[in-house]
Amino acid sequence: MIINNAKLRGKQGLHSIECENGRFVSIIEQDGLVIPLESSLDAKMNLLSAPFVEPHIHLDAVFTVGEPNWNLSGTLFEGIERWAERKPMLTSEDVQRRVLKAVQLLVENGVQHIRTHVDITDPELVALKAIVALKEKLSAYIDLQIVAFPQEGILSFPNGKQLMEKALEQGADVIGGIPHFEYTREYGVESMRWIIDLAEKHGKLVDVHCDEIDDGASRFLEVLATAALEKGIGERVTASHTTAMHSYNNAYCSKLFRLLKKSKINFIALPTENMHLQGRFDGYPKIRGITRVKEIKDAGMNICFGQDSIQDPWYTLGNGKLLRVLDSGIHSCHMMGYEDLETALDLITDNGAKTLNISENYGIEVGKPANFIILEGSNDVEVIQKQGDVLYSVREGEILISRQPATLNRTIPLIE
Ligand code: FE2
Repeated sequence: MIINNAKLRGKQGLHSIECENGRFVSIIEQDGLVIPLESSLDAKMNLLSAPFVEPHIHLDAVFTVGEPNWNLSGTLFEGIERWAERKPMLTSEDVQRRVLKAVQLLVENGVQHIRTHVDITDPELVALKAIVALKEKLSAYIDLQIVAFPQEGILSFPNGKQLMEKALEQGADVIGGIPHFEYTREYGVESMRWIIDLAEKHGKLVDVHCDEIDDGASRFLEVLATAALEKGIGERVTASHTTAMHSYNNAYCSKLFRLLKKSKINFIALPTENMHLQGRFDGYPKIRGITRVKEIKDAGMNICFGQDSIQDPWYTLGNGKLLRVLDSGIHSCHMMGYEDLETALDLITDNGAKTLNISENYGIEVGKPANFIILEGSNDVEVIQKQGDVLYSVREGEILISRQPATLNRTIPLIE
């Protein structure tokens, strides 16, 4: 496969890219626009980028909104209650049907790498087993990382530790946690140390729902970062949400950032979800409840965006479009200055890949798997301005999806 007339992120000019046996074999700068052969794919001066990375989604819960009851308060905690009502109704067939529908949406919108949290506070591990069974079948479309996620706590749920270990035996790739939801601060602290020990023992990645609460006194992030630092595994550890950081005082945050930088842990912000769930206990002014994305990025730490939910008890909307999440995130985090905008796609591409520890096989480079998307627009800024569709998604040199931009059937007359 040959692609002509492609713009590449961070590079001048137009490029021709050749793929063979599922890998990139050459990337050459063109001398101007070329007329492509019939067998070539014409990028038409649009941006060819590495695929989108969805680093944080709950595939076990997609499309369950309102079943059996709606989350009327809009809080995270009522969401957990509503999900606890839906959980006993789960069957393998039900989970797999909904997961496949969501994966199709994600693939149609340029995602090829997904990290999903799966609730393992279920003695039968119904959802986990159902999703592990799909992983191999889905590999032609996406790479899937599965997090053993203790939605109702590790120490606060009966046999929580045993369920986590059982989930790893069943095929989970990543160890999760939820310290702010444990019954006590002590349980939260103990859970963080326990999962880091477990990750070290099994050589697993870690991704914690950490301090997803508006309580400025929720400080489990410092415990997670310290444990990761002391074990030297920070690059394999991720703190998701960290919305309490929005409410930390600046003096504490300044001290905390020293530790966070040393620890080298990754961060995931979920802008659409947390703008919806947080600030629910405020009058006016209402906080936005999103972690300090710009400050984390400017301090040189790794942060990416995810969508968290597609139509589940926590979030009624969601459609698989990471460009929508990026748009919300840069608005709510004051990241609309040109310097932030011109590399903004990093938040849903390269930074997500780094978080998932997949950078070795990710990116537009000779020798790497020929996975890429073509976006409407010639650079990050234009793509975000247009909020256009993904025109192509190509995986190992094979076209997964394609679509054409809208064309005018009638020319709009110029104003005299
Ligand atoms: Fe989440």
